[in-house]
Amino acid sequence: MASAQRIVLASRPVGEPKPENFRLEDTPVPTPGPGQLVMRTIWLSLDPYMRGRMSDAASYAAPVQINDVMEAGTVGEVIASNVDGFKPGDVVLGRGGWQTHALSNGQGLRKIDPKAAPLSTALGVLGMPGMTAYTGLLDIGQPKPGETVVVAAASGAVGSAVGQIAKIKGARAVGIAGGPDKCRYVKEVLGFDECIDHRSPTMAADLKAACPKGIDVYFENVGGAVFEAVLPLLNLFARVPVCGLISQYNAFEEQKGGTSMNFLLRNALTKSLTIRGFIVSNFASRYPEFIADMTKWFAEGKIKHRETIVEGLPNAPKAFVGLLRGENFGKQLVRVGPDRV
Ligand SMILES: NC(=O)c1ccc[n+]([C@@H]2O[C@H](COP(=O)([O-])OP(=O)(O)OC[C@H]3O[C@@H](n4cnc5c(N)ncnc54)[C@H](OP(=O)(O)O)[C@@H]3O)[C@@H](O)[C@H]2O)c1
Repeated sequence: MASAQRIVLASRPVGEPKPENFRLEDTPVPTPGPGQLVMRTIWLSLDPYMRGRMSDAASYAAPVQINDVMEAGTVGEVIASNVDGFKPGDVVLGRGGWQTHALSNGQGLRKIDPKAAPLSTALGVLGMPGMTAYTGLLDIGQPKPGETVVVAAASGAVGSAVGQIAKIKGARAVGIAGGPDKCRYVKEVLGFDECIDHRSPTMAADLKAACPKGIDVYFENVGGAVFEAVLPLLNLFARVPVCGLISQYNAFEEQKGGTSMNFLLRNALTKSLTIRGFIVSNFASRYPEFIADMTKWFAEGKIKHRETIVEGLPNAPKAFVGLLRGENFGKQLVRVGPDRV
């Protein structure tokens, strides 16, 4: 019998996830029952939200249960199908999880045209992270020409798109990223106006110098020290789409409460701030506009992207821990299988 592999959640981490929180298992390749299909995973997406799924703290989505397969978006090939509308050879975007083969009833699967763009972009710039950037920036941030937009994790999947869309809309884009290589890329390749290194001891002063007219839109990806540097620079009526707080994801279990809460609330009150959290699924109805605009901008070379690829499912846990440490440079992916067998 042909064999498959999967990675399950073995235990819940406290702090940074460790290899023992995951377990690699060999299983038979599943056989589809009535109304089911089997996908062979080609690309597996690693995303920061997975840290939240490893925790059983209350959140917007249910946690992965112990011994269950880790959740993930995937691009795969249908290899057997009893679902109308899907046949072997179809390439599909779905939520196959951290495994080489996944069963599906077809719900939520989207067929991808392999000729339209590289398959992996369906998990990055033309997928969930790109749509997060597009909707969070345009629907909540609403940048106007000449305004200053600041985004951290600026070389990453979401942040890189935020700054480039801001530029397309005529705003000034200031990125924040970890280290000189990422900052150089953000300015020279992605075309941001400035990029600040958040690891520098002068980060707050550097950010102030890079934003002489203050900040009109702060697209929040990281929280922590970066947010504290941003907050005093926010202008009247600034907008803050709260997309993620990656600097805090490994700390949530141990936190007893923030110390800068009153400072935040005072700024919200005195500056009439709009601070709005969101989950990309809030904007699901915007998918047609997103995919039309991003596909066009991508084809025109106005939106560039970068990927960090690790080979093989067994390397997913190490790559995921690295993502939370900033070791990825661009969208983090795992190549699980070839495009075609
Ligand atoms: N709300 C939603 O629906 C939604 C959807 C997708 C993503 N998100 C959020 O968007 C953010 C970016 O996600 P992504 O997929 O694009 O990941 P990414 O930027 O490709 O990768 C994560 C990056 O976060 C940065 N980082 C890690 N620890 C940090 C720290 N302590 N301080 C500052 N930066 C740190 C690192 O970049 P540096 O080396 O540059 O620091 C790392 O490369 C995350 O917070 C994620 O949870 C939210």
